Amino acid sequence: MTVLSDPPAPSAASAPAVTRRVARRRRYLMCPPDHFAVAYAINPWMDTARPIDAALARRQWDRLRRTYLDLGHNVEIVPAEPDLPDMVFAANGALVIDGRALGARFAYPQRAGEGPAYLRWLRRAGLRSVSAAGQVNEGEGDFLTLGNMVLAGTGFRTTFAAHAEVQELFGLPVISLRLVDPRFYHLDTALAVLDDRAGHNTVAYCPDAFSPGSQDALRRLFPDAILADPADAAVLGLNAVSDGYHVVLAEQATGLMTQLRERGFHPIGVDLSELLKAGGGAKCCTLEIRA
Ligand code: ARG
Repeated sequence: MTVLSDPPAPSAASAPAVTRRVARRRRYLMCPPDHFAVAYAINPWMDTARPIDAALARRQWDRLRRTYLDLGHNVEIVPAEPDLPDMVFAANGALVIDGRALGARFAYPQRAGEGPAYLRWLRRAGLRSVSAAGQVNEGEGDFLTLGNMVLAGTGFRTTFAAHAEVQELFGLPVISLRLVDPRFYHLDTALAVLDDRAGHNTVAYCPDAFSPGSQDALRRLFPDAILADPADAAVLGLNAVSDGYHVVLAEQATGLMTQLRERGFHPIGVDLSELLKAGGGAKCCTLEIRA
């Protein structure tokens, strides 16, 4: 599938040209919210006293899956396991680059069983290699791939030692970034990769979610980044899934949608209100299997 962006509108000669974005067909892994619940609280979004509507969660998740299918992507399903209410957040299950997978090793005991559950699926997925993790890492929640590098979050879940493990395993430079706001406890809640083509490297992020040194590093690496408004970050608008052109994100993040359009992307809003009660959005529900 090759979908080009709409041609940029005629504009004044001084206006910067809008980059042409190109969608690429993706292979995603998702886990249905069969056992989804807020049964414990390991991030500030989770309140065990606040009820969730399981049927609505299911419809919202189905809609997200349907959105990917309608865009032409492949969606594979890992079966949900009982007593693992956060397993719906497939992004945390692994990091898969170039047909090689590194399994997750979760920071909290409540999610520990998800690591082996995702490894079982990965071992049957026809990948070149599948490795169990030596260090604590929460998969694509904290590792985002673009161009020939990996951006890696730490501060709440994934450890610095895991960043080194990823660099050794995949042979890609890993850029460590420190998260400082507990609402943005995974890198994928604070930063979205929009255009992952080498040489394009376009991201959106919320500077306040990062330590001062990490903010400086991001500014140097991505001088043209979209800086998200805190209001859009606060609805997990940055927890977005881009195929290079279409960007699936929380429909409440209206300011970010405007910024995306200005930069040649096609935002598609989804409502994941029930999953947000566990601190998750579209990206959290989606693991990219990069063959
Ligand atoms: N309740 C889950 C946790 O706190 C949410 C995980 C969201 N996943 C993500 N990729 N940010 O671990």
